[in-house]
Amino acid sequence: MADVKLNHIKKSYGKVDVLHGIDLDIKHGEFVVLVGASGCGKSTLLRLIAGLEEITAGELVIDNKIVNHLDPARRGIAMVFQSYALYPHMSVFKNMAFGLKIAGQNKRAVREKVEQAAKILQIDHLLDRLPRELSGGQRQRVAIGRAIVRDPNVFLFDEPLSNLDAALRVQTRVEIGKLHKDLGATIIYVTHDQVEAMTLGDKIVVMNAGRVEQCGSPLELYRYPQTKFVAGFIGSPKMNFIEGHVDKTATEYLTITLEDGTQVQAHVDTSGIQEGTKVTVGIRPEHLFEGRNLPGQLSGDVKLVEHLGEVTYIYMSLADGTEVVVRGEGESEVEVGDKLQASFAPESVHVFNMDGKALPRIRRSAEIPADNPAIVTASQA
Ligand SMILES: Nc1ncnc2c1ncn2[C@@H]1O[C@H](COP(=O)(O)OP(=O)(O)O)[C@@H](O)[C@H]1O
Ligand SMILES: [Mg+2]
Repeated sequence: MADVKLNHIKKSYGKVDVLHGIDLDIKHGEFVVLVGASGCGKSTLLRLIAGLEEITAGELVIDNKIVNHLDPARRGIAMVFQSYALYPHMSVFKNMAFGLKIAGQNKRAVREKVEQAAKILQIDHLLDRLPRELSGGQRQRVAIGRAIVRDPNVFLFDEPLSNLDAALRVQTRVEIGKLHKDLGATIIYVTHDQVEAMTLGDKIVVMNAGRVEQCGSPLELYRYPQTKFVAGFIGSPKMNFIEGHVDKTATEYLTITLEDGTQVQAHVDTSGIQEGTKVTVGIRPEHLFEGRNLPGQLSGDVKLVEHLGEVTYIYMSLADGTEVVVRGEGESEVEVGDKLQASFAPESVHVFNMDGKALPRIRRSAEIPADNPAIVTASQA
């Protein structure tokens, strides 16, 4: 097992710069999830780590050794792709054994390793089948098995569940989580799925156009996004953004007037912000409540109601036309055409300046992230 360190890694294809200097510190055994819009450089970063492409500048350090020029086969890394990339004419057993055979391991050791991995992944009854005789989920398990038998220091996963249907995704996601616990492996995992990122990651790295936008535990990113980009990326449905300007500043409060004339208070660090400054207010759909009487209020016309069973997403339009989503009760009786009053706490309001930077929210003790070693929860004590 190994620590992985990226020191200002850059990648260019000819004149096109794709990665602009990525710094990351990944601890042994950590599960790190990379998220970001399509084309932001996630797969490129994995390929550089795996050694499938050359690093343009910067250092890749695995276990305190610079490995920029180390042969891919000797980096102790195994990669699992979205497309599975199995050999179609080989049985499951042969697909899983192939890498070990090439490496010259003896037959018995190979059989033992393959059977053990197959058991972990519950595909031990499928070893004689060909890939085309398997479901998508089973194929992906074979691809994961092929990685496991190599006993790598680091697993790289590039959107491994994207080709699976919803139910299998959930099941395989849970299995990958367990696998991480059982193997204690270092995992770097690319996904665009919110739930995968939030549930699997010890740490999430949000990438934006070839740069790291923010890196932290899932709840840290959810509660304290440092930029509007991260705020909009983490959370589903995404955070509502409403334009306004600063009306008054106090020590730990801003009063902001929104475009539709509504005044809201935000519990943020107000140092260095002037009255009159244009800002964007951010409030998550789940922090807006129908029928509660919290200090913050937004009102609008209901344009669309989506009943999902356990929740209802209510789309309302403020007086100035801004669309706002409210996460309502599962059995909400709100209807299209209604006037809706949604209320919220000033503590749940995010504020961004025109450069997209967040004004730091005041941290409440109950919200200090769970990975803060100074905090012991009741169950641990
Ligand atoms: N071999 C290549 N030559 C030129 N440009 C490439 C190559 N591979 C990737 N790119 C470009 O690099 C950018 C990042 O791609 P990629 O890492 O695949 O993004 P992601 O996985 O985040 O969707 C894209 O703009 C893509 O077009
Ligand atoms: Mg990709």
